[in-house]
Amino acid sequence: MAPQDFTFRAFAQQGFYRNLNARLVDMAGITPGQRIVDLACGTGAVTKLILERLKSARESVVIGIDQSSIALRQAIEELANARESAIQFVQGKVEHLSQVIKESVDTIVFCNGIHYIEDKGSLLEEVQKTLKPGGVFAFNTSFFEGAHTPESGQFYRRWMFKAIRDLKDNYGLMPVRSEKVESRKQLTPEQYEALLVQHGLRIQSKEISTVQVPLEGWLDISQFEDFISGIMPGVPLDKASTSLKESVTKTFQELNISVVPRNWLHVVAIRV
Ligand SMILES: C[S@@+](CC[C@H](N)C(=O)[O-])C[C@H]1O[C@@H](n2cnc3c(N)ncnc32)[C@H](O)[C@@H]1O
Repeated sequence: MAPQDFTFRAFAQQGFYRNLNARLVDMAGITPGQRIVDLACGTGAVTKLILERLKSARESVVIGIDQSSIALRQAIEELANARESAIQFVQGKVEHLSQVIKESVDTIVFCNGIHYIEDKGSLLEEVQKTLKPGGVFAFNTSFFEGAHTPESGQFYRRWMFKAIRDLKDNYGLMPVRSEKVESRKQLTPEQYEALLVQHGLRIQSKEISTVQVPLEGWLDISQFEDFISGIMPGVPLDKASTSLKESVTKTFQELNISVVPRNWLHVVAIRV
């Protein structure tokens, strides 16, 4: 399989995922004519939601930033028909935001990526520098302390146990456990709030929503490089992905379930 087969594209097209990001974009209060950054835009699913709310206003600008050239290529394909607003895609690290965006913006949206950032304090300094006074920073994540509902513990334990056993039995491989990957060092909602306030951002709204994730969602996330390598570091992507998919299917069958609940944290803050 080629690297472009392990992007976020399939997962980003799941209906429940679109709905929860649409909720955050609505909470951000985007209005036509704004300059907006879609931070870690990936394959463009959130960029599309932002554009829908800009209603083709001529002076609007959306800048999508992501470190992955493969994801950006797919975002350009996904948005090939959205000619009406000015969209730009820039390959870069979110940590270098203020170097990429020279003219300040009204809104920064950061969907499903903040948990990857090691130094969240430096990131928020960049956000603060890049926003206009009164500008909006909106982010969401399902990798925070509290994302797992109590009743889903059995699902994760069984899935991971089976996946590791499948990998060993079928390929003779084991994950190479090194440092804890960044997405596993999870902050509480209160820690996020305190960090925002420390960096000159006032909390405007916060929500935790419980989303019912179907088997297709777990299969699609098992096709995404960052997820796979977070769980099975050092294992070839195709083999790790196959083990994750086969074992999640069996886990759903054994537990006789059709969905697994997962909490998403949404936060909107204003630059003071
Ligand atoms: C889970 S995807 C989310 C994509 C998109 N925001 C969405 O919700 O559909 C995370 C994205 O973050 C990007 N990413 C991770 N760390 C990054 C960094 N330090 N700088 C820029 N992009 C990063 C990855 O390349 C990936 O496209």
